[in-house]
Amino acid sequence: MTVAELLAKFPRERTWLLPALQAVQRAQRYLSPDALETVAAHLRVPKSEVWGVASHYPELRLAPLGRRLVRVCAGVSCRVRGGRELLAACERRLGVRAGQTTPDGAVTLEELDCGFACAVAPVVEIDHAYRGRVTPDALDALLTAPTPSHATASTPPRVALPPAPTAGSPAARFAGLRREAERRRTGARLAVGMGTCGLAVGARQTFEALRVEVQRRGLPFTVVASGCNGMCWAQPVVEVLRDGRPRLTTGPVAAAAVPRLLNALAANPAAAPDVGAEWLPRQRRVLLERCGLANPGDIADAIRHGTYATLVHALEGGPEVVIEEVRAAGLAGRGGAYFPTAVKWAACRAAKGAPKYLVVNGEEGEPGIFKDRHLMEGDPHRLLEAVLLAAYAAGASRAILYVHGEAELSAERLRVAVAQAREWGLLGERILGSDLSLDVELRRGAGGFVLGEETALLESIEGHRAMPRTRPPFPVESGLWGKPTVINNVETLCAVPSIVAEGGAWFASLGRGGGTKLFGLSGHVRCPGLVEVELGTTLRTLTAELGGGSSTGRPLRAAVLGGPSGSVVPARQFDEPLVPRGPVSPGTGGVVALDEGASVADAVRTLLAFNMRESCGKCTPCREGTARLLRVLDGPVERERVSSLAEVIQVASLCGLGQAAPLAVLSALAEFPGEFGLS
Ligand SMILES: Cc1cc2nc3c(=O)[nH]c(=O)nc-3n(C[C@H](O)[C@H](O)[C@H](O)COP(=O)(O)O)c2cc1C
Ligand code: SF4
Ligand code: FES
Repeated sequence: MTVAELLAKFPRERTWLLPALQAVQRAQRYLSPDALETVAAHLRVPKSEVWGVASHYPELRLAPLGRRLVRVCAGVSCRVRGGRELLAACERRLGVRAGQTTPDGAVTLEELDCGFACAVAPVVEIDHAYRGRVTPDALDALLTAPTPSHATASTPPRVALPPAPTAGSPAARFAGLRREAERRRTGARLAVGMGTCGLAVGARQTFEALRVEVQRRGLPFTVVASGCNGMCWAQPVVEVLRDGRPRLTTGPVAAAAVPRLLNALAANPAAAPDVGAEWLPRQRRVLLERCGLANPGDIADAIRHGTYATLVHALEGGPEVVIEEVRAAGLAGRGGAYFPTAVKWAACRAAKGAPKYLVVNGEEGEPGIFKDRHLMEGDPHRLLEAVLLAAYAAGASRAILYVHGEAELSAERLRVAVAQAREWGLLGERILGSDLSLDVELRRGAGGFVLGEETALLESIEGHRAMPRTRPPFPVESGLWGKPTVINNVETLCAVPSIVAEGGAWFASLGRGGGTKLFGLSGHVRCPGLVEVELGTTLRTLTAELGGGSSTGRPLRAAVLGGPSGSVVPARQFDEPLVPRGPVSPGTGGVVALDEGASVADAVRTLLAFNMRESCGKCTPCREGTARLLRVLDGPVERERVSSLAEVIQVASLCGLGQAAPLAVLSALAEFPGEFGLS
């Protein structure tokens, strides 16, 4: 297909610039000067602007790559688990440095900031498929193996045809959907954790082996692909789900161990070790309740698990009731700023202008955190129900699900969920016969940490470079194309169905008024994964009880909390409750544990270098300041120089990237001065 033919499906509007460039790149593997000119002509956007956008986003490539792309993660979670050594081994093996292509054009090698599968570190990505827990010994085989099929190819969505249309009230119509969902119940299931983390460590092979063996033995199980239940440390996980019996969580189950698992289940259903029996009940699982259990590719299963029932109830109560419950819950934004969600929704509802938009921020580009991906991959229908409730409350008629450009599995599962919800009458015009109509569109990012900043994200939807806007005006007054717009993080939204179902007061009774929070555990812990606990939980609980303690036998000395915008928390503060704006703030919830042998200075340098590279360059304090601070760290380090430079960056930067960039350096310098040659 020619570029012109490829572009024909895009309306000739600037908003399609990024999707058009992505489509061309998918087809041709890079964006040639000719292709850029054709895009410019088709969309009627000046050539200089098209070049400006194409050269801005890290995932857009202006030069051809080798036939195979190998990326080795050297983010903090991976480097403390051997990521740098893997990268060095790849360089030796291929005879090129990171960023180069082998002379025969066979392989391009790159260093990755984070593959967002930090709990199965160290991670190597080959032609967009992730491999986790990679050892140097396994590298040769990985590099010479045929190109792995794409992660999503192994999980073809089940076709969930809609039930016969019904009439009457939303409740009556939904009762029809529920009957249909019940009719499709399959009985006992073996659910394989096929999230990004599971797939990176062999879940696809486990799934196939189970399917074949169950069929061969004629066992009364259906084998389904679920998301990850958070136990990344035990992946590939198999959940044994039988009606009327407690769940049994086993793992890791390699493909070769499948016959043994089935033998054990046949002999004595309780014989297989239940590795989740202690770990799961230690949490307060609200948002994660269905992750790992529900089949994300089947709307009928989602409905059987209770999804969409809250929406039906809310449609009877009115939008104000939804806002009031969310207000009573004290729900505050989990994108990191902890802004009250109900305030945003009420302001959008009251704002003049139409249409109103809801943008779901599924960008999650902060190294060390992978919570939103787990939610999107594991329970996409929960997110869609939340989107419906939020749009209903805020008065939005159009929703955009904005998903990170490399989060293929999240995007694929959401795409399927949206299509199924549309078919089942749960999205689109006059949902379940009510006055609520919602049009949902999926957009993909193209890289860059700053893209997750809400106004930068709006810029990108409009077809511009991802550069934050000055505020005011705030998006609720003037957002997408100048219209009232609510932007919420995936985790924030996923709390909403439970809040509306159980009541705001119930959510506020958890976590000292703050509710629950997801944390991604990685680095030097024995059980890296995703957990949900009440806000106010301590790092001690997260690392020692849920994380299983140090993975190396050496005591933990610190944790990087909140990624490149966060800080380094010393072990002496591990008993502080994690409370937004408290002495130790949870940020977005990324926890990378560092043991006594880890270099705090190296971790901090990695984070600062990331912020420097990711600075969009719009304002000088961030653009120049982060680079200078990095040079200062190369030493000899002077405390006063660091603090005065840090202050300028924090105070004078336009957006949160610059404002928070020096935090990790400052906290590390205060607690670990010896690492910087200071006393
Ligand atoms: C540099 C930077 C990156 C950000 N990245 C994300 C992100 O990936 N996902 C997200 O939800 N919020 C991110 N935010 C926060 C958003 O600007 C915004 O506060 C959030 O999406 C609002 O949703 P919430 O109120 O539900 O948290 C980022 C902010 C900054 C400054
Ligand atoms: S603080 Fe940094 S990332 Fe934010 S607008 Fe300024 S230059 Fe861009
Ligand atoms: S996957 Fe390597 S740091 Fe996140």
